[in-house]
Amino acid sequence: MPRIAIIPGDGIGLEVIREAVRVLEAANSVYDLDLELVHWDLGADRFLETGVTITDEEFDRLANEHDAILLGALGDPRVPGNEHARDILLGLRFKLDLYVNWRPAVLMAPRFTPLKGFEDGTRTIHLDTFRENTEGVYVNLGGSFKVGTPDEVAIQEDLNTWKGVERIIRAAFEFARAKGRGKVTLVDKANAMPAAGKLWRRAFAEVGSEFSEIEQNAMYVDAMAMDLVRRPEHYEVIVTSNLFGDILSDLAAELTGGLGMAPSANMHPGKHALYEPVHGSAPDIAGQGIANPLGAIACAGLVLGQIGCSEGAQQVDAAIRASLEKNVSTPDLGGVASTEEVGAWIAATLLESKEASTSQTDGTHG
Ligand code: NAD
Ligand code: IPM
Ligand code: MN
Repeated sequence: MPRIAIIPGDGIGLEVIREAVRVLEAANSVYDLDLELVHWDLGADRFLETGVTITDEEFDRLANEHDAILLGALGDPRVPGNEHARDILLGLRFKLDLYVNWRPAVLMAPRFTPLKGFEDGTRTIHLDTFRENTEGVYVNLGGSFKVGTPDEVAIQEDLNTWKGVERIIRAAFEFARAKGRGKVTLVDKANAMPAAGKLWRRAFAEVGSEFSEIEQNAMYVDAMAMDLVRRPEHYEVIVTSNLFGDILSDLAAELTGGLGMAPSANMHPGKHALYEPVHGSAPDIAGQGIANPLGAIACAGLVLGQIGCSEGAQQVDAAIRASLEKNVSTPDLGGVASTEEVGAWIAATLLESKEASTSQTDGTHG
């Protein structure tokens, strides 16, 4: 019985995960998956009530007793220092060593990009960002000194290890090869940060030499941000550091319809996987029932793929595309549907696909 940990978290995390769960439950019934969904109340409410963010025992159970984790978002204006999000989300990424953060951004219809020139379909966007997820400036090495005085010092170190860099670059190339993608682009800031830059570029060249059929190039992150707006169709797989991947994946999401569209997977291949939409808890729209649940629902599709239900994964993707075609969409996409209406429509579409195939089977036999 596949066990999935469900961590809705905060803000719109609760709203979008409710719909992702609705879709998982529909898939459970269509494909007889015998899924067990285990709900976890990790988030700001619990932290504010108890002072506990997440315990070691909870990390162990999340790691060892589940086939996958589905997370909404963490972040709450009542916790301005964001400690619970760091402990829980970054804690899971670090402690479970989820070194691959795969963030796909796919333009599903030309009207969703804010860019010009996509209307006739000759240009399109399909970017797979491979964000290093366990190092970089996120390790919080450093500290503060003389805080609150005119001499205040803050040091935030950028950690890059050969092992960490090599394995994310390898993951990006292996993905490109497995998916038939023609090009991998390294994004760094080797001109201003040469120590990290040298390590990344050497690792990129070394690993890349094993993948000679794949086109390879390197870009500085500032130029990449520019070029992703100018000609996103020029790029396929991007591999980059934790911080640059964080920034570029929000940009890529916006190019394909907005943060609400984008799923992501945090993985230690062969060991653990945590799926979450790229967006945060969106306090500006939380509680209004208008958050776009498609990124979270796409994550539900990825969960199905991971537990071996590839047909379910494909049907979720097809139902997402059908909802867009029929404009069953939230206001960020120009629609008038609520978060719940989009989730319910996609779940119903999955259930109908079962009825359709059952009646076809009945027809054949009858
Ligand atoms: P955000 O992603 O929450 O929101 C940015 C903008 O995008 C907002 O205007 C929001 O309304 C919009 N948006 C985001 N998701 C949307 C959706 N599904 N549908 C429609 N519109 C959507 O980023 P932020 O405002 O910088 O961060 C808010 C909080 O979330 C912060 O505490 C931040 O640290 C946290 N955060 C958490 C995660 C995570 O848990 N993975 C990711 C990003 C930010
Ligand atoms: C993300 C978020 C997190 C990050 C924050 C909440 C720490 O922005 O998952 O993209 O920077 O990784
Ligand atoms: Mn981010």
